[in-house]
Amino acid sequence: MAADCAIGIHDLSFATTEFVLPHTALAEHNGTEIGKYHVGIGQRSMSVPGADEDIVTMGAAAAEPIIARHGRGRIRTVVFATESSIDQAKSAGVYVHSLLGLPSATRVVELKQACYGATAALQFAVGLVLRDPAQQVLVVASDISKYDLESPGEATQGAAAVAMLVCSDPALVRIEEPSGLFTSDVMDFWRPNYRDAALVDGEGSITAYLQAVESSWKDYTEQGGRSLDEFTAFCYHQPYTKMAYKAHRHLLNTCAYDTDEARISRAVEPTTAYNMVIGNSYTASTYLGLASLLDRADDLPGRPIGFLSYGSGSVAEFFAGTVVPGYREHLRTPAHHEAIGRRRPLDYAAYRELHERSFPTDGGDHPTPSQTTGPYRLAALRGHKRVYERC
Ligand code: HMG
Repeated sequence: MAADCAIGIHDLSFATTEFVLPHTALAEHNGTEIGKYHVGIGQRSMSVPGADEDIVTMGAAAAEPIIARHGRGRIRTVVFATESSIDQAKSAGVYVHSLLGLPSATRVVELKQACYGATAALQFAVGLVLRDPAQQVLVVASDISKYDLESPGEATQGAAAVAMLVCSDPALVRIEEPSGLFTSDVMDFWRPNYRDAALVDGEGSITAYLQAVESSWKDYTEQGGRSLDEFTAFCYHQPYTKMAYKAHRHLLNTCAYDTDEARISRAVEPTTAYNMVIGNSYTASTYLGLASLLDRADDLPGRPIGFLSYGSGSVAEFFAGTVVPGYREHLRTPAHHEAIGRRRPLDYAAYRELHERSFPTDGGDHPTPSQTTGPYRLAALRGHKRVYERC
């Protein structure tokens, strides 16, 4: 059995957007049989950001309750993981650091590798805490998934941020060694700097994801990881929830296990509740899966959970975490339900208007329409600068 290291996730909180588009509205617009969305890809709705929301406002909203509960004093590093970056130079984390009033004696950096970024952030955070167990690292994973209108990817959009406090003696999940790693240079999904929406080879991306599952598991096994039977549940990256089922079926096949649907469902279904209604949140998605599992299952203390993080392009990592006894006292289940329940439904026309909105690039003074009822907003673009405010 892999050795436990008592470093991991001490607190986890997520935030999502002001608006939500039910898949029924999309299906009605494009004439798709709703079963394709509800059953075929396993999605019910997707979060849509208001005009004054972005990865910074979502990231700060996700992290604020963590700061309120644990204070600022021990946080020496903020790692902001995203693939919806707002600036080529400045880390979105610096804006979040400012909005949260974190001390100036902090290192802040942004990380990118498609949906894998948050896992890199988590693993680097574990390394920092291992070096100095007195310090805490704030990991923020925040993304807006956007595909072209009328494209196959349109039904798999979404947006959310997950914030995690990483430290020694964690209250929620201990992150274990080893990790199984996999990198392969594939063009399954990418977003050139001049595009707002991602480009994707849909079928190719599914094949690439499954290849990454198989290969990162193989490396995990070779590094001396746990056997498949030891895991109670698996948090997969969920571009849409059905992908997690496909991934687990593939893993069982790879290991020559029976691919019994009830067994697959037991391992995966508890991780899908939030992703099913939020949509693809890219790098936040695996950890929304963890939030769903922790909030829904009550038999987890001491149990190993498998994590499979996949980021197109591609990098993947399989690792294990053990749920800490007493974790339920530290959950934020009502706040998570509130974040989902408070979203305002959009009709197709209103969604389309937000989708087609693009930021002015002339450096002029452009106030942003007031739409969010969240704690932070992007108030304006002024002189090529983003201006944020607390609501
Ligand atoms: P599509 O062509 O719209 O859909 O593409 P489809 O025809 O493949 O149908 C989807 C499923 O619905 C199929 O099931 C159909 O049979 C079923 P499957 O064969 O997969 O089991 N279906 C129905 N079921 C019930 N009732 C019906 C019905 N009709 C059809 N009436 C695709 C789907 C996901 C490819 C598309 O939405 C897409 O391109 N999405 C974006 C790419 C993506 O999400 N790829 C996933 C892997 S890559 C990844 O996860 C990384 C990513 O997050 C990016 C990152 O790392 O940053 C994307």
